[in-house]
Amino acid sequence: MCGIIGYIGPKSVVPVLIEGLKKLEYRGYDSAGIAVVDKGKVQVRRVKGKIIELEESLRKSPLGGTYGLGHTRWATHGRPSEENAHPHRDCTGQLVIVHNGIIENYLALKLRLRDEGHVFRTETDTEVIAHLIEKYFQGSLEEAMRAAIAELEGAFAVSAISAKDRNKIVAAKLGPPVVVGLGDGEYLLSSDVNPIICHTQNVAFLEDGEMAVIGPAGVTFSDFKGNPVQKKIERIAWNPMMIEKRGFKHFMLKEIFEQPEVVRDTLLGRTSLDSGKVLLDEIGISPQVLRRVRKVVLLACGTSYHAGLVGKYFLESLAQVPVDVEYASEFRYRDFILDKETLGIVISQSGETADTLAALRASKDKCAAVLAVTNSVSSSIAREAHGVLYTHAGPEIGVAATKTFTAQMTALVLIALYLAQVKGKMDDRASLEFIEEFQRIPHKMEKILRQAKTIEDLALNFVAFSHFLYLGRWVNYPVALEGALKLKEISYIHAEAYPGGEMKHGPIALIDENMPTMAIIPKDRVYDKMLSNISEIKARLGYVLAVAQENDPQIRERVDEVIPVPSAHPLLMPFLTIVPLQLFAYYIAAKRGADVDQPRNLAKSVTVE
Ligand code: AGP
Repeated sequence: MCGIIGYIGPKSVVPVLIEGLKKLEYRGYDSAGIAVVDKGKVQVRRVKGKIIELEESLRKSPLGGTYGLGHTRWATHGRPSEENAHPHRDCTGQLVIVHNGIIENYLALKLRLRDEGHVFRTETDTEVIAHLIEKYFQGSLEEAMRAAIAELEGAFAVSAISAKDRNKIVAAKLGPPVVVGLGDGEYLLSSDVNPIICHTQNVAFLEDGEMAVIGPAGVTFSDFKGNPVQKKIERIAWNPMMIEKRGFKHFMLKEIFEQPEVVRDTLLGRTSLDSGKVLLDEIGISPQVLRRVRKVVLLACGTSYHAGLVGKYFLESLAQVPVDVEYASEFRYRDFILDKETLGIVISQSGETADTLAALRASKDKCAAVLAVTNSVSSSIAREAHGVLYTHAGPEIGVAATKTFTAQMTALVLIALYLAQVKGKMDDRASLEFIEEFQRIPHKMEKILRQAKTIEDLALNFVAFSHFLYLGRWVNYPVALEGALKLKEISYIHAEAYPGGEMKHGPIALIDENMPTMAIIPKDRVYDKMLSNISEIKARLGYVLAVAQENDPQIRERVDEVIPVPSAHPLLMPFLTIVPLQLFAYYIAAKRGADVDQPRNLAKSVTVE
């Protein structure tokens, strides 16, 4: 996720902006920049890369000024580059903006503005905002901002300064956060409180549809129509380190809690609730090519492989195509058979996993096309695939994948619906109904997250166990695999996952009082079969925890503990059943004193084989 910082006050602005950007680094970024108004002119400095390179550039060629903006960019549209780095300028270069979010209608705006004579310099969606403000500027920066944002569709936390309306910073919020810091004769704005708190603990959080005009004498708040808004000034008691994790003890826990926002962000702009259509032109693989697809092969490693296994059910049920899901590390060495009617999909949050990249290279010329699902813009896998669908999970700092897993599943739902649409396997009404169901998932995830304390209390009873069995069936079998991986990789407890139907073929021999079972048992087509598994385990004195639907009255008599989740479309239940398993693994690992964010022996991206 991008980071924004702005400052106006008596201090030299450049060090304040640089230190502020450093406190936003945890959000992850691939480029950075600042803009100041120095001696009446806007000066911009940007780098592709890290803030330390920006500092080096400023050391060589210093900037002055008492107010300005800074930005760390996590690329969503346009590759990481100096030109695509924020701040972005209007035609004159004397009005600059920084932005966090996604402008869905930027292409139409860009074409219209270009026809009106505006000259664009970047590949980004953001730049259209600078030219729109320029178009409407008649002396008041905030009035021009109001007129500009009225034309935007999508999500934006945007801030602007101009040499033509000096000594003010204007900000507007619809979606991503904007926090205003109110110090003693100095004022700041940022994407979160972390860069602010070392200057002042008095903050105001903009709500969607609100603007702030920040000057040396203070801050005025209004709505997008210009009506004054009274804001509550809050006092932040957190220490800076806590804030990097926004109060969470570990990045992994923060990222588990970010999942509803991540699903919303990955969905944003890619479905139409008017038509029921999925809008995936961005993937760069034509409907003509997709229409010829008769089979899909998913290639990935680790958690991404588990996301692929869930995606198999989406694709089979919605697009009605046969699907193979392969460990990339195995596939690349096989005498695999592909043809020009097969679509390859490689899944990799880092976009740099060596085995997945190798499988992509080995297959890309032997199939119809290879589509990458990745969280990393311009990563090797993104660049080498024929097409890309980016997840908008923001950077995942914890080595154990959590929010990127649900983001990948979101992307795979979109791909399955899109393929179904292109191949005429699903009418718009059915597609709309499914999309509407899907739009309710983030809210249901939030309901589960609100019971985190209950899950923590339950998890603490299992800190001393050395083994765990995870069971699921149908679309929740991959969730059992992912839940077991989470426990293994962060708490170092041995955990195995099996499809429930396999219990009689061996694993049931494991059951005794030292081998607890986590059963995933929503009320779907295999519910009764899972109940049978549970009965067989209980008959052998096995302890059973169940992730089950809150509206299931009978499950409580059948198991030892229930973790309730809301009900949803059976195919979408993995978005809900995975959350308690992530929390369960996290709380056990944290209690065991494991290094949750950096588990032993693991790397965030396995770029070597
Ligand atoms: C999952 O928690 C691990 N971090 C690991 O299995 C990871 O999913 C795997 O290495 C694949 O990484 P990628 O998605 O970046 O390709």
